[in-house]
Amino acid sequence: MRMRKKRNGVGRLEAAGDLIVKDRASLPPTPVTIEIGCGKGGFICEAAKREPDKQFVAVEICLDVAVLAAERVEREGINNVHFIVADAKTLPDYFDKGDVDRIYLNFSDPWPNSGQHKRRLTYRSFLTVYKSILKDGGSVIFKTDNEKLFDFSLEEFTFCGFELRGVTRDLHGSEYNEGNIMTEYERNFSSRGFKINRVEAVLPESAGFTLRLASADELDGPVPAMFDDARAYMKKNGIDQWQDGYPTPEILREDVEKGRAYVLETSGKPVAYAVLCFGEEPTYREISGSWPDDLPYAAIHRIVVAKEHKGMDLARKMFNGFETVCRGKGINEIRCDTHADNRSMRRALEKNGFTECGTIRLENGAPRVAYCKHI
Ligand SMILES: C[S@@+](CC[C@H](N)C(=O)[O-])C[C@H]1O[C@@H](n2cnc3c(N)ncnc32)[C@H](O)[C@@H]1O
Repeated sequence: MRMRKKRNGVGRLEAAGDLIVKDRASLPPTPVTIEIGCGKGGFICEAAKREPDKQFVAVEICLDVAVLAAERVEREGINNVHFIVADAKTLPDYFDKGDVDRIYLNFSDPWPNSGQHKRRLTYRSFLTVYKSILKDGGSVIFKTDNEKLFDFSLEEFTFCGFELRGVTRDLHGSEYNEGNIMTEYERNFSSRGFKINRVEAVLPESAGFTLRLASADELDGPVPAMFDDARAYMKKNGIDQWQDGYPTPEILREDVEKGRAYVLETSGKPVAYAVLCFGEEPTYREISGSWPDDLPYAAIHRIVVAKEHKGMDLARKMFNGFETVCRGKGINEIRCDTHADNRSMRRALEKNGFTECGTIRLENGAPRVAYCKHI
């Protein structure tokens, strides 16, 4: 959206101070509905008026545009819209998984040139961000006049595991037009004869996931591919974990043969893998720090999530499944370890009730942060 720079944009935004979300503490009660790239705010104001008991958050990267939208909210006396003035990629700084029930993307910039596709708000890196804050069963509703962007977006949604519903290439002539709120861009494009494309991309419910024992044939395809992707990700992010080719095909095969390898499956496809071991773990005997007790425990190792399913809280589904398996065997404690630099794994453990207990050393002497959870 091209616009002349507003005089004193920062001051005008500060005048709307109460409307601005600066951090998690200043969020309205969740779950909220958000619009990313709200422009001048016509859509979110109307949506908020129609559902006065619901909280809305407008996300806009451009300060001068956000100012106009915030001033409109104040002028119209709307009290259930807040603003995040930031790039959509920073949304996990504000929201946790499940805090958002719906995301509207209205007439996002198409970035049509080759090499610009990663800036599109429906590119897979953005969709991964949305998955990390949406509740299961939540959705992204996307509208655009741009056919090429629409085709690209349908592919990206599918790649990232969303289910497509209500797809139309002529919204205003379709059954999905009932209740539709026209945005500023939508009014402009449709008045010039452009048809409007629309899709609702739904994040599947966790009910569609099953934890089961892994089979030997999965060791030839999906499972090693998950580890290859995880190794590449860690290498790129400077995490010195699994870089020596661990776990080797022999280790994976032994895990399956010993009946301790599990996959999380959805739509008939394994999307995460981990090992659950019962009995004493030799590398857990020595710890700098301390385990909370001497209870019998199970240990989780080699947990990995398929890269296209990252951000869907699959670690939680694995942990929940393992807790059920453990309780069934009368085991009330689970231990785990991970590399100190593996922030996403540490965050997943901490969010799922694991407590940091100290540092253990692997057989090769490498240190790992040790975690424990009483279940
Ligand atoms: C083409 S306008 C559409 C405005 C409005 N949604 C409408 O339909 O009338 C796209 C808006 O998205 C905002 N935007 C672009 N990239 C963004 C990002 N990464 N994060 C947040 N907002 C973004 C732009 O500043 C602009 O206001």
